[in-house]
Amino acid sequence: MNLLIIGTGYVGLVTGACFAEMGHYVICLDIDAEKIAALQKGNVPIYEPGLEELVKRNISAGRLTFTTDYQEGVQKSKVCFIAVPTPSQEDGSCDLSYVLKAARSIGDAMTEYRVVVTKSTVPVGTAQKIRQTLQHLSIPFDIVSNPEFLKEGAAVSDCMKPDRIILGVESAEAAQIMKEIYAAFTINHDRILVMDTASAEMTKYAANAMLATRISFMNEMASLCEKLGANIQQVRIGIGSDHRIGYHFLYAGAGYGGSCFPKDIRALHAMARKAGVETPLLEAIDTINERQKKVLAHKMKAYFGSVAQKTIAIWGLSFKPDTDDLREAPALKLIEELLSQGAHVRLFDPVAMPKAQKILSHPQITWCHDEYQAAEGSDGIALITEWKQFRFVDLDTISKSMQGKAFFDGRNQYKKDEMKAKGFHYFGIGVS
Ligand SMILES: NC(=O)c1ccc[n+]([C@@H]2O[C@H](COP(=O)([O-])OP(=O)(O)OC[C@H]3O[C@@H](n4cnc5c(N)ncnc54)[C@H](O)[C@@H]3O)[C@@H](O)[C@H]2O)c1
Repeated sequence: MNLLIIGTGYVGLVTGACFAEMGHYVICLDIDAEKIAALQKGNVPIYEPGLEELVKRNISAGRLTFTTDYQEGVQKSKVCFIAVPTPSQEDGSCDLSYVLKAARSIGDAMTEYRVVVTKSTVPVGTAQKIRQTLQHLSIPFDIVSNPEFLKEGAAVSDCMKPDRIILGVESAEAAQIMKEIYAAFTINHDRILVMDTASAEMTKYAANAMLATRISFMNEMASLCEKLGANIQQVRIGIGSDHRIGYHFLYAGAGYGGSCFPKDIRALHAMARKAGVETPLLEAIDTINERQKKVLAHKMKAYFGSVAQKTIAIWGLSFKPDTDDLREAPALKLIEELLSQGAHVRLFDPVAMPKAQKILSHPQITWCHDEYQAAEGSDGIALITEWKQFRFVDLDTISKSMQGKAFFDGRNQYKKDEMKAKGFHYFGIGVS
């Protein structure tokens, strides 16, 4: 089928490339002309394992093209997916302006029946708003809500092998078209779940809220473990072995970040406020997370007394491993706090350095080419992103090159006893 994907970010580009890989003819459209020019040459502007290869292969096969032209994109494509940003507004509610703008642009270019699909995470009721945007046209159309569940860092494999495909539809015709598009991704359609648009929109928020709840719950338990003399790592294994709980998403750490959880929890909370529904749990998830992002700074203050003139090595800047995405990354909060207290920071991330250098600038920042260089002369190390390479470092070399001996492990990658035996003053999360 001929498909248009609007927005070539983490979601749009991955989805477009995966659809092309499955044999569809895909046009990816963006308003960012520079990005489109780079993509036309096969240069992928984001780091996502396996993506560049997929994009190049499908460009060569003639199934994947790029444009900034809505007329071209909409006229050639029966189905138009919207995958543009839905950031937070000041009050936490979702800013739908990008989505509605994209919908209006589709409307301006539409001359015959089209299916307009939201891939962006949008508040309940957005399908109706898009309907209102297009209904002045005397052209038939359908609206579908098809929220995306891929995870950055594993986006290509998630997209190729989805756990489920949620289709919020308002007509049998649209459901049939969407099932055809996804046929190659799920044998016998067994992972396609068809529902109404409002429930599909809500499903995405509910899924993210559930996952964020697990993280904040574990972080709260971690604070208790520290005070009461327990170890959250052992508690995790203890509760995860209950099959009703399971092991996934039960890690205490320096807080969650990224482009989705923080904004989606706040947007869901804003939706509830508008609907006059009290949601104290949603509020608590966000409050605990904001507190958690400060936990390493507090541990440093307790250890050093003051971090002024101390040198701290930061291992990992992206909000999680295998991505260069820095949106709401806990490392940024820590760096900001340390710099404001007069510390020097030595920064390293395996892939996010170019993006970080665009947004961070301070005379007390030193950019380093690896974790070893970052550790040199430092009073302490803070491991913030659990990149695999940080688990297998030569700790003796690291220790010798440091000025101090503090190790703040924001992702519990090391064992306290082993670190102690190597001479480090080790501080994990929820590890007493
Ligand atoms: N990043 C994720 O892991 C993830 C996962 C699931 C869902 N989502 C949701 O998907 C949506 C997109 O997220 P993302 O991370 O891919 O965003 P992104 O910021 O990486 O990319 C968005 C792209 O849309 C383009 N754009 C903005 N307005 C446009 C317009 N009017 N027409 C065409 N292009 C336009 C931007 O130039 C940008 O390239 C959001 O709603 C997000 O919540 C994201």
